[in-house]
Amino acid sequence: MASTLTWLGHGTWLIETQGHRVLLDPFLNDNPKAPLKADQVECEYILISHGHFDHVADAASVAKRTGATVVAIFEICQWLQNQGVENAQPLNLGGGCQLPWGRVQLTPALHSSQLPDGTYGGEPGGFLLSLPEGKVYFACDTALFSDMKLIARGGLEVAVLPIGDTFTMGPEDALEAVKLLQPRWVIPCHYNTWPPIEQDAQAWAQQVRQHTTSQPMVLEPGEKFTLGQQ
Ligand code: NI
Ligand code: MN
Repeated sequence: MASTLTWLGHGTWLIETQGHRVLLDPFLNDNPKAPLKADQVECEYILISHGHFDHVADAASVAKRTGATVVAIFEICQWLQNQGVENAQPLNLGGGCQLPWGRVQLTPALHSSQLPDGTYGGEPGGFLLSLPEGKVYFACDTALFSDMKLIARGGLEVAVLPIGDTFTMGPEDALEAVKLLQPRWVIPCHYNTWPPIEQDAQAWAQQVRQHTTSQPMVLEPGEKFTLGQQ
């Protein structure tokens, strides 16, 4: 079965691959766009990009209920383990690990990363996943940075980029990111959750079609993208 990426609104994704379920940046209960609540999601792994509430809010509760293994920078793993999360795979920037469904690498991001209670969250990151259909890059919360072209070496099947502006790069810089990354597909996220990050994703997709060779895919919260499409 082909791998799929389901957008759960904002920066939250459910990745289903080879019979495994992987949740990225769980922010469900207080996310006005999430199609489900934290107690409705099942997963074996939880990837966390950085310490902000809109990325970690439901991490501890989902990890404790499901027994999922948290994959995150060392400091965030420690913070969750202090709350009773049992399974963690700590990483640091540039490092990766092989999981039963593919390699996961923690990539740099230009952002900040304090945890909700003020604890130091380490450095913010993104994730590069090696799936059977190709590599998938979740930039997560970040500004544009030129080393994106290093992350993309070897080719990307999909890049998932924030376009919301205000707290991450906005549409213009995200378009530049597409040019650096040259993914086969690009999917926008981290927009329209609240008024300060409202964006016209269809207009952005039109810019991507006009100015790059990547194919944009605009999802609604709850919709999934199936990898390996032409
Ligand atoms: Ni953030
Ligand atoms: Mn965020």
